[in-house]
Amino acid sequence: MAEYWSTLDVDLHLAVDPDSGRRVGLEHALREAIRDGRLAAGARLPSTRTLAVELGLARGTVSAAYDQLVAEGHLVAVRGSGTRVAAQSGRAPSDARTTDAASGAGTAAKSGTQRAADPVRFPHDLRPGTPDLSRFPREAWLRAARRAVNEAPSDVFGYGDPRGRLELRRALAEYLGRTRGVLADPEHIVIVSGALQGLALLGRVLGGGMAMEDPYIPLFHKAVRTTGTEVVPLLVDDDGARVEQLRGRAFRDVEAVVVTPSHQYPIGSTLHPARRQTLVEWAREGAGRYVVEDDYDGEFRYDRQPVGALQGMLPDRTVYLGTASKTLGPGVRLAWMVLPEALLDPVTEAKRHLDHQSETLGQVTLAEFITSHDYDRHIRASRLRYRRRRDLLAERLRTKAGRPAAGFALGGIAAGLHALVRLEPAGMSEAEVLARAAEFGLGLEGLGGLWDTGPKGRSGQNRARPQGIVVGFGSPTEAAYPRALDALVRTLSWR
Ligand SMILES: Cc1ncc(COP(=O)(O)O)c(C=O)c1O
Repeated sequence: MAEYWSTLDVDLHLAVDPDSGRRVGLEHALREAIRDGRLAAGARLPSTRTLAVELGLARGTVSAAYDQLVAEGHLVAVRGSGTRVAAQSGRAPSDARTTDAASGAGTAAKSGTQRAADPVRFPHDLRPGTPDLSRFPREAWLRAARRAVNEAPSDVFGYGDPRGRLELRRALAEYLGRTRGVLADPEHIVIVSGALQGLALLGRVLGGGMAMEDPYIPLFHKAVRTTGTEVVPLLVDDDGARVEQLRGRAFRDVEAVVVTPSHQYPIGSTLHPARRQTLVEWAREGAGRYVVEDDYDGEFRYDRQPVGALQGMLPDRTVYLGTASKTLGPGVRLAWMVLPEALLDPVTEAKRHLDHQSETLGQVTLAEFITSHDYDRHIRASRLRYRRRRDLLAERLRTKAGRPAAGFALGGIAAGLHALVRLEPAGMSEAEVLARAAEFGLGLEGLGGLWDTGPKGRSGQNRARPQGIVVGFGSPTEAAYPRALDALVRTLSWR
């Protein structure tokens, strides 16, 4: 079988079997691209002439393949506007949302956070959730793994402390103190397999309700609700979580407040210093009140001095949650909780009951990776790269085709791997932007599906809330990023 890679916007995986021939191979490749979302519903296909030249096929072969797929209902031929993927055939991002919600996988699948559960792929992908996975530091990681596994005592392969390996807890205590101002004693750290698991463990051990930011990651809300803990949505604005709401009746039984103070997900705001103070006061006022600090992208701040972790102000009442998902990749499945005294034993026991401990080989490798300072080197290089991407995004959206941009505003870009494009009421709606993006083969995340409260339309959009698009500039490769930005600019150029 010969493999051809088209240089079109869509990567067509064309395998030509000499027995069944080129037309059948092309039909198969197109069906597959439609099925897995590389060709989204409504996407326009190249002309038969262009595709034939591109793939080195006879034009008649391409025409015949298109005709066959039209007959099957996968494509529609519209006079004057070429051939498109049929509406009910390709998977638009909003379809993925419905499917994920229905399957119970949680809507965070669409946020890119749980991308593995989401089979939709786009030729250009600016969905938030992952860093550039092609930049995983393979060599340095392998070096660390070799050294760590070679030198580890045999008990590394056994059942161990549910809190995780001491080597890693020590390395993290030093690293978090140095880089984030976290006051961490290795004895108070519990290694978990993701911030998601950390929140679910807290849901199990807390007796009262949990306030969680809204919007946030629906899967996180769901994971906590699944433990039987009540989740009370806490609205956010440009100054972060509106913590003054905590004094309201709805929050009477709340025991813990989950916030993203350094860079709110997905709005991108930083918790205002006065609000930090209010939050600290709220926690100190009642016995057994906690702040849960989700510091998922705290390493990536570009414009000012890093905003230190809130935990440093309130160590005896804060659960600090950190993760390797943004610095290395979510596949690593390693995260850490720094716990106040009162929660340490209950969380450790909950972790033991859940899965004994997180897997240890990754833990000792990460410990070695941190103590050799390869982690610092990797983060510094990543920060520079993402900062350049952030700058390019801002520059490209400042003007559209030479005119000042209108209809939207870019925000939340001081930190992290995502930004928020706020849509102005006079411009395109979220649904329109997402549909247009799909036409250009561009994956984006609408803010609409990330709200916990408010009315939701059939497509998951929430018209009563501010409209916006979450743009993840972390995940494309360096080579793919400029083209993804082109697609974004075209998507937003609505007049
Ligand atoms: C707000 C937020 N918190 C935490 C995480 C990390 O979650 P986990 O450690 O479970 O991969 C993410 C990842 O996308 C995130 O966006």
